[in-house]
Amino acid sequence: MRNPRPARWFHAGLYVTVLALLGTGWWLLLGREGSPSAVARATGVPDAELHTVTGWALAGLVVVGAALGARGWRTFWRESVRFRRGDGAWFRRWPAAVLTGRFGRHEGRFDPGQRVANLVLVVTLLALVASGVGLALVSGGPVFVWFARVHRVATWVVTPVVVGHVVVAAGVLPGYRGVWRAMHGGGRLRVRDAERVWPGWTERATARGDDGTSGRAGGRPDA
Ligand code: HEM
Ligand code: HEM
Repeated sequence: MRNPRPARWFHAGLYVTVLALLGTGWWLLLGREGSPSAVARATGVPDAELHTVTGWALAGLVVVGAALGARGWRTFWRESVRFRRGDGAWFRRWPAAVLTGRFGRHEGRFDPGQRVANLVLVVTLLALVASGVGLALVSGGPVFVWFARVHRVATWVVTPVVVGHVVVAAGVLPGYRGVWRAMHGGGRLRVRDAERVWPGWTERATARGDDGTSGRAGGRPDA
């Protein structure tokens, strides 16, 4: 199994809050504060407040997740910062491989593209949480202006990365077909998808007796 149940639940909480924050955040950034969104009209809560409440939920999730999932965090971080020889070749083949599925070989638990995305996501989401909490607690002055600047820049950086991650992870691109199973349902992949996207990891998991998939170890992918 690629991602255990607690990681899958954490991920679900993360994306519900982050997608809601992106929606309300962009609404504010585009200057729509004066015109309530459909959600704000339906709930009677102004967009800025919806945003701040969801922001606190994300901040709480991050604190609780870091406390309860310390071991998972360490593995995630260690596997995301480790780049190896050969990863450059993986990147060169990547644009074609997203369509053909013929990715370059890599040995990681995450493919090199995921590792870059993970690092950017961790840094920008932490910056958003820290500056957002700052905005919620401080009510003006130069510190507020500074938090707002960090918050806006991080929003610009995080948006394309989240969109890219969702496109890749949802399995719309032929090369990444089936990877959504790693995080949803029982969290088990089909053998052929695991071997295509994470070949080294699949071999190691199979050798350990956990093939991480719904097919038998080394057997045929299920239908
Ligand atoms: C994915 C995460 C987040 C994104 C993309 C995001 C985005 C944004 C954007 C674009 C704005 C408008 C800035 C402007 O108009 O200059 C904003 C405002 C704000 N954000 Fe966030 N944000 C996020 C997380 C958070 C968090 C975790 C908090 C913490 C409580 C937070 C609290 C605030 C506050 C208090 C404001 C000012 C609202 C107002 O106008 O009264 N945000 N955010
Ligand atoms: C909106 C905010 C989201 C954030 C911040 C986020 C973040 C992450 C992170 C940091 C990972 C760890 C490894 C990786 O980079 O793949 C991950 C994995 C994953 N995410 Fe998301 N995600 C979001 C939304 C989604 C959505 C909407 C889907 C729906 C298809 C999704 C599907 C997946 C899958 C399948 C994995 C597992 C990949 C693996 O096992 O390596 N994510 N996500």
